[in-house]
Amino acid sequence: MRKPVIAGNWKMNKIRDEALQFVYAVGEKLPSNSQLDSIICAPAIILRDLVKRQGDNLRIGGQNMHAKECGAYTGEISPIMLKSTGVEYVILGHSERRQYFNETNETVNEKVLAALANDLRPIICVGESLEEREQNKTNEVLYEQVTKAFVNVDPKDIDDIIIAYEPIWAIGTGKVASSDMADEACGYIRSLIEKIFDHSIAERVRILYGGSVSTATVDELMAKEHIDGALVGGASLKEEDFIRLCESAVKVQKV
Ligand code: PGA
Repeated sequence: MRKPVIAGNWKMNKIRDEALQFVYAVGEKLPSNSQLDSIICAPAIILRDLVKRQGDNLRIGGQNMHAKECGAYTGEISPIMLKSTGVEYVILGHSERRQYFNETNETVNEKVLAALANDLRPIICVGESLEEREQNKTNEVLYEQVTKAFVNVDPKDIDDIIIAYEPIWAIGTGKVASSDMADEACGYIRSLIEKIFDHSIAERVRILYGGSVSTATVDELMAKEHIDGALVGGASLKEEDFIRLCESAVKVQKV
């Protein structure tokens, strides 16, 4: 059985006080950790504060990290530093990082390996642009992104890895992919994992959909065979919405 996941991606939003208020407010109201992984990925500067107050049912993650453990990389944060804050997860290869900060499939792979080596659980983002979808290149793009992200990944680490399918045209635009479209892409990603590893590993890996997920669309998405949860930007910033998303996710159990 694949445990559902709701991961909030706060991006560059919320200062410390706002973030702490959120964590206190959602605290007791989240479903239990045995039913759901509820995760908030917050700006690096407040991670330690959030970890100290995360409570039993919330986990905290970073939004990016450098692949190297230390060195002359001004402004960067290493896997060891991230781990030392107490976070469990880190988003890697988000399309905004690929688009604005020149991340490539190769750097994403280096980061995935570095995260796993440092006991951090990567949430690996993949997804096509509007142009690529219109040119019927979605599968081609996903093939490149997924196969490259998993180079040299040890199959024993699969339970620590989450994949998020996030079509770029649906992020922050209000244009959510139809649940069938999202399920088809997540199913294709699962078939790639089967090719890279094997059937049982493909059945275990958790794949999320992301891109304008809201309380209005989450139920339909979660009902789909290959969608094990959501990576949520805008709707994860409001306490009530985040709680509602988490409640929806536990209603469906994937076998
Ligand atoms: P959105 O962002 O839910 O605001 O579209 C999703 C993401 O970028 O992870």
